[in-house]
Amino acid sequence: NIHPILLCGGAGTRLWPLSRRDYPKQFVRRTGAESLLQGAARRVSGPLFAPPIVVTGHDFRFLVIEQLAGVGVQPQRVLIEPEARNTAPAILAAAFALSQSDPDALMLVAPSDHVIPDTEAFRDAVAKAVPRALAGDLVTFGITPTRAETGYGYLQLAPDAEPRADAPQNLLRFVEKPDATRAAQMIASGDFLWNAGIFLFTARMLIAAFCAHGPAVLIPVEAAVRAACCDLIFMRLDPVAWATAPDISVDYAIMEKASNLAVMPFSAGWSDLGDWDAVWQESGPDARGNVASPHSTAIACADTLLYSTSAGVELVGIGLQDIIAVATPDAVLVAHRSQTQRVKEAVAALQHKG
Ligand code: GDD
Ligand code: MG
Repeated sequence: NIHPILLCGGAGTRLWPLSRRDYPKQFVRRTGAESLLQGAARRVSGPLFAPPIVVTGHDFRFLVIEQLAGVGVQPQRVLIEPEARNTAPAILAAAFALSQSDPDALMLVAPSDHVIPDTEAFRDAVAKAVPRALAGDLVTFGITPTRAETGYGYLQLAPDAEPRADAPQNLLRFVEKPDATRAAQMIASGDFLWNAGIFLFTARMLIAAFCAHGPAVLIPVEAAVRAACCDLIFMRLDPVAWATAPDISVDYAIMEKASNLAVMPFSAGWSDLGDWDAVWQESGPDARGNVASPHSTAIACADTLLYSTSAGVELVGIGLQDIIAVATPDAVLVAHRSQTQRVKEAVAALQHKG
């Protein structure tokens, strides 16, 4: 049995103003559809999987339970982080919680903010990756890159790898979020895949990786799990220990340093709707490159996204090129398409204002 670890603590600030502090993007239900979290939970249910372990913040614990119930999923456990410390502490806490009952348990780290249209292909790729994870590797899932994206991690294939093969491949190196120049070089070289942010390993091997490369994360997280307070399925991590855990992602803490890496190529369609440019790409722009949501109208625009979230707000763009415009009842974002990673700076500036 594989234990899915649903990471559900990101603030999703790059998708402001759709994603809010009180209602991050993984919970947002676009008209009639299930939320990204619900999609993620459904994807990792079925015969291959144990019920998921969810890692989330205090404020979201009931929303998580409610949304999962909506797709017929009941988590085995909900780990509650006293505060968000990024993915390294979150994943490691899940590993310690799991290893209390089974140190060799297989964990599938599943972000809650992805779109993967073909569930069967996804489960098939996970199943094929299992032997490598059981053999002690940290298995990543690799996507064929289509642009010099700076918001992703890059996986450098070993010289003997066959990136189109339907089996795990050897990996030379992991490079998290390169700058634009390096991203372009990596794309041009053809030896790189994008890191999907989905990982498969045993709890034991992840803990061993932190022993080797991240003791500063290991010590407080182990203490926070040991002193956690359990109530039914909720496991509240100890706030005193947790407060001393560094704020770092698993990509920087472990993946860039580890040498026991493998990659399972996955070509059936994947996207991380991480920022507005990705939403534009994934929404299928028309012949002029435009995407206009309901309640939005594009006149003489090109390569532009117009997105109004509500019937009460009509959004019209005229003569725009490479613009992202998002209107909600109480906030409007207008940005150049090349700058959408910077929306998080806007959110920080607004928080500053109070
Ligand atoms: N519980 C919890 N706590 N979850 C978190 C936290 C946290 O503090 N921080 C982030 N998450 C969750 C997010 O909700 C998301 O589901 C997942 O962890 C990944 O975090 P992101 O913040 O979205 O990471 P990213 O998109 O910048 O980068 C990662 O994913 C890319 C692909 O989507 C990296 O793994 C990249 O290498 C990768 O290419
Ligand atoms: Mg992401």
